[in-house]
Amino acid sequence: MKKLRVAIVGAGYIANYHARAIANAGNAELVLACGLPLEAVEKFARTHGISEVTTEAKDVARRDDLDAVILALPNRFHAPYAALMLKSGKDVMVEKPMAVNLAEARMMAETAKKRKRVLGVGHMWRFDTEVNYIRQVVQEGTIGEVVKTKGYGIHVNWGPAGWFTDKKLAGGGALVDMGVHALDTVRYIMGDPKPKTVFSVIRTAYGNYDVDDMGLTMIKWSNGAVSTIESGWWNPHMDGPEASTQLFGTKGYARVFPTMLKLKVADFPGEFVPPMPARAEHCDQVIYDRQMANFLASVRSRKQPSPGIEVGTTIMSILDAAYLSSKTGKAVNLGK
Ligand SMILES: NC(=O)c1ccc[n+]([C@@H]2O[C@H](COP(=O)([O-])OP(=O)(O)OC[C@H]3O[C@@H](n4cnc5c(N)ncnc54)[C@H](O)[C@@H]3O)[C@@H](O)[C@H]2O)c1
Repeated sequence: MKKLRVAIVGAGYIANYHARAIANAGNAELVLACGLPLEAVEKFARTHGISEVTTEAKDVARRDDLDAVILALPNRFHAPYAALMLKSGKDVMVEKPMAVNLAEARMMAETAKKRKRVLGVGHMWRFDTEVNYIRQVVQEGTIGEVVKTKGYGIHVNWGPAGWFTDKKLAGGGALVDMGVHALDTVRYIMGDPKPKTVFSVIRTAYGNYDVDDMGLTMIKWSNGAVSTIESGWWNPHMDGPEASTQLFGTKGYARVFPTMLKLKVADFPGEFVPPMPARAEHCDQVIYDRQMANFLASVRSRKQPSPGIEVGTTIMSILDAAYLSSKTGKAVNLGK
C-alpha cells in the first residue's frame, strides 16, 4: 500500500507527538513541516527525519502531492488554516479546541463537507484504554443511569505562557486548554449526549493575562445527567489529573484516573480496581498513535472520522455557551 503523504503545520510541543504517531502508523510519512521561526522548524524536521521545511502555510496549501495536513498551531489559526488546506484539496486533522468560537468551527465543517474532505479534531482522550474501559462499563449499564459527573482539567501550581495566555491567539484560557479534555471525556463516556443547558463561572484569579485560569462549568445533558467541569491553571489543588472523570449512577460509581468502580454486590458495597496497562506518562504517546491511525484510516476510506465535525462543533458550542453564561450570569440553553 502506498504511504499517505502528510504535512504538519506547527512544529511545537504537540507536533512532536503527531510526528511520532505518523512514524508509528507505518502507512504514512511526514514529508513537509511548517512552523516559525525557521531554525525551530528545521530542528523539528531533523528530529523526525522530515526532508522539507517552510515557514509559510501557503507553501503547504500550494502543494499538490499531499494527502493530509496536521494543524498543531495556536488556536487562532485553526479555522483559517483548516479552510486554506481544505480548499486546496487536503484532508485535515486539527488540534483541540477545533476553533476559537462555534461560528469558525461551523465554517470549517461546511468547508470540509463542500470540498468532500475529511476533518479530524484532536480530542485524543477518546483513544485512551482506561477511558474506553469505563465507557464500556457505563454503556453496559453497570452503574445504572448516570445522574451526575465531575471532571477535571487543571494544572496545579503551574500554567502555560506565551500564546496560551493571549486571548487574541488562544480564544480562551484554562477552559479551552484543559477543561475541554474533561468535557469531551465525560461526553464520550456517556455516549455523546447533546448539551441542553450550560451555566459557568469563569475568571482570571491567578495570573496577569486576559484569559481565564479558574472555571466551574455545569452542563445539563439530553440523557438527564448533570456534569461539573473544573478548569484551571496555577490552582493550589486538583481532585484528579487531566480528564479525570467521576460518574455517579443509580447503581454505582465509576472513575477514570485513578480508574475504579464502586458497586453493590449482594447489598455490600465493593471497590474494584481493574488491571490496566502501565502508562509511560499521563498523556501517553499510544493515545496519539491511535488517534492518528483513526484519522489516517478516514483519509483512506473517505468517511468522516470521529472525533471530527460532530464532536468538535458540539464541544465548541459548550465552550461558547460557558463564556456567555459567565459574562451574563445566566444559564444558556442550547437545545430543546
Ligand atoms: N491534545 C493535546 O494533548 C494537546 C496538548 C498540547 C497542545 N494542544 C493543542 O495543540 C495546539 C498547539 O499547541 P502546542 O502546545 O504545540 O503549542 P506550541 O507553542 O508548542 O507550538 C505552536 C507551533 O505553532 C507554530 N506557529 C505559530 N504561528 C504560526 C504560523 N502563523 N504559521 C506557522 N506556524 C506557526 C509555532 O512556531 C510552533 O511551532 C493548540 O491548539 C493546543 O491547544 C493539544
